[in-house]
Formats: sequence, structure tokens, C-alpha cells
Amino acid sequence: MSDLVDRLSDRRVVICAGSGGVGKTTTSAAIAMGLAAQGARVCVVTIDPARRLADALGIERLESEPRRVDDARFAGHGLAMHGQLWAMMLDPKKTFDELIARLAPDEATRDEILENRIYRELSSAVAGSQEFTAVAKLYDLERSGRFDVIVLDTPPSRNALDFLDAPDRLTGFLEGRALRVLLAPSGLAARVVGRGTSVVFSVLGRLTGVDLLNDLKVFFAALSVVLDGFRERAAGVKELLADPATTFLIVTSPEREPAAEAVFFRDKLREAGMPFGGLVVNRVHILADETPPGPDDAGAVPGLEPALARKALKTLAEFRALGARDAATIAALRDAVGDADPILIPHLDGDVHDLDGLVLVHRHLFATGADRAELLNEAAF
Ligand SMILES: Nc1ncnc2c1ncn2[C@@H]1O[C@H](COP(=O)(O)OP(=O)(O)OP(=O)(O)O)[C@@H](O)[C@H]1O
Ligand SMILES: [Mg+2]
Repeated sequence: MSDLVDRLSDRRVVICAGSGGVGKTTTSAAIAMGLAAQGARVCVVTIDPARRLADALGIERLESEPRRVDDARFAGHGLAMHGQLWAMMLDPKKTFDELIARLAPDEATRDEILENRIYRELSSAVAGSQEFTAVAKLYDLERSGRFDVIVLDTPPSRNALDFLDAPDRLTGFLEGRALRVLLAPSGLAARVVGRGTSVVFSVLGRLTGVDLLNDLKVFFAALSVVLDGFRERAAGVKELLADPATTFLIVTSPEREPAAEAVFFRDKLREAGMPFGGLVVNRVHILADETPPGPDDAGAVPGLEPALARKALKTLAEFRALGARDAATIAALRDAVGDADPILIPHLDGDVHDLDGLVLVHRHLFATGADRAELLNEAAF
């Protein structure tokens, strides 16, 4: 049960979560690519992918709908595409607007909200958090039935947990005391709105030429109309995140801080009753079994100038020191996270920004049985 392929079978939603910069976007794209190559209709929702990676997939623009990645792109990269790969780069603001548009009972209400100044400020703030729009989009795509699997990249947040809490935080905010007070018939909004002659607002209006009072009135009236839809959706999202057909992969690098966060995230998943699919340790320095010569054995490298040989051996020694550190971190992670056989991706030369790089990462992710160890050995020093 330890190969990734087994862990992902029958899963309809795969969420790659983890600390900032560890390789969530790379892993999500590579997983989606691999599942699509095997024959599934797969959609990957990426968040802020590196420009060149987005180019490689042909998703240069922020969008609210996925696009099919042309099979022709994979020609010559050693990957036979038997299914379909769809990809999008999430545009949080547009996605949030579309959600409001869908929840509004009619076009007039929709336009009233979308054009409302207060909504625009608020929606930029909510969309700015990215986590909610990401899960909202996931929910819609899943319900659409268009894909066999959806792979969700998660936003680069300092705290990976923001993502788990997103539905709760948004409904908490919408249902929160502050807003209830504002929305209540006797609340602030009613008072402000009710008293058409509010001195503050009329002065503000005169000074700024902005009819804030009316903006507020429209905003609160319209918001109360979509509030139920929001609650329902947030509940649906929570259910989807906890569904047995969903799986969370925790991505980490073998460094101390991301590793500690991976452990923390694993605990939170357990507490929240959300399904854990495994640990992916990326950018690992893999150690070869035999001990190579140390930096002082320059003579041991035939065919190299002694100075160059010394440099090469020094680099090798550094790599092996990192390798020893990584091995220790991974051993500790195995126990702390409860994954006896995490999926390892070696630290590759250069960034993973093109299809060749993605194909290589995907090979490590999708290798099975003895091939897995063999591939890792090829990357060892
Ligand atoms: N195995 C690897 N070897 C070498 N470079 C890698 C590897 N995996 C990822 N990278 C590079 O590391 C950088 C960060 O990767 P990525 O963008 O996937 O991380 P992320 O977790 O999505 O980051 P963020 O939290 O900022 O969204 C990228 O430049 C990527 O090309
Ligand atoms: Mg990313």
C-alpha cells in the first residue's frame, strides 16, 4: 500500500498541502499529469505557479475555468498521454465573483452586488486569502462531474492550516457576531440606513461624492440574499474535504521547519477527520550506499586535475552531509507523521520549470515496487 499509485486509486480529489516553497505546485502538476497519462480525465487547479511552469502547461493566464492541455505538448517528452489533462491557474477574485453571480437570485441582484463598492473591497480581501476560493472552485469542479480526478494545489501560506480552516473562517465571518449586529433589524446598518439623514454619511458623501449610505444599504440587503447559499456551500466544502474519496498529501522538503509543519498538519488533519493519503518528501539529497572518497583523497579521482578533483570531492562531501541530514529528518518524519514509506523525490539539478522536469518528478511519484528504489539510486551520490 505504499506506492503512490495505490494510495491514489479511487480517489476523486487529491489535495497537495504543505509549507511554503516545498514543491506543492510542482507535485500537484506532476501528479495530475501522471494520472492523466494513465487514462483519467484530470484537472489540476494550480495557485501561483512559476511563470515558466505555467507556460509549459499552456495556462499563462489567471482564469476561473480549466483549459485542456494539448496532448501535442507531451510529444517528445517521453510521456504517452492516454487520458486528458486539464489545468487552470486560479483567479481568486474572478472565481469569487462568479460564485456570487451564481448565488444571486436574479440578474439585477447580481449586478447590484458585483458593482457595489463595498463588495468590491470585501471580495478582494476574501479572494486575497485564496484558500476559500480554492476550495470553492474545487467544490464546483467536483460537482460538475466533468473530471475523474481533481488535483488541488494549495496557496503559499506561512501556515498550511489556513487552508483547512477556510470554509469555517468564511462562514464564521459571514455568520459572525459583528456582521449579525450589522444585519439585524436594529443593528448598525439598520440605524445607518434607517436614518436617511445620517450626518456622518451625508457629510462624507458631500466631501467624497460617494454615496456610501446607499452603497451600504445595497450591500447589506444583497448580502443577506446570498448568505444561505454561502452557508450551504461552506458545509458542502467541509463534507467534500472529509470525504473518503478525497485525500490529502502532505508535501514537505527535508528541512527542519517544513518538516515540523508537516507533522503539525498531520495532527490537524486527524483532528478534523480529514483523510491523509501520505507524505511526499521533495528535494531529497539521496545517498549512495558506498562511501565515496573524502575531499582529502583528491588523488583518488583519476583523470581530473588535483585542484578540480579537490573541488569536486568537496562538493560531494557537502552533498553527502545534506544527504545525512535528510535521511535523519525523513526517519523522524516517518514516525511522527505515521507514514512508514513516504514518497521521495530527489533534489534535481535546477528548477522544475518545463515538461521534462515535470515528467521526471512524475516518474519518481508514479514508480512502483522495485523501480522506485532503483530510480532513487540513479539520483544518488
Ligand atoms: N525536486 C526538485 N528539485 C529541484 N527543484 C525543485 C524540485 N521541486 C520543486 N523545485 C523548485 O522549487 C521551487 C518551488 O517549487 P513549487 O513552486 O512547486 O513550491 P510550492 O510549495 O508550490 O511553493 P509556494 O508555497 O510558494 O506555492 C520551484 O522553483 C521549483 O521549480
Ligand atoms: Mg505553489
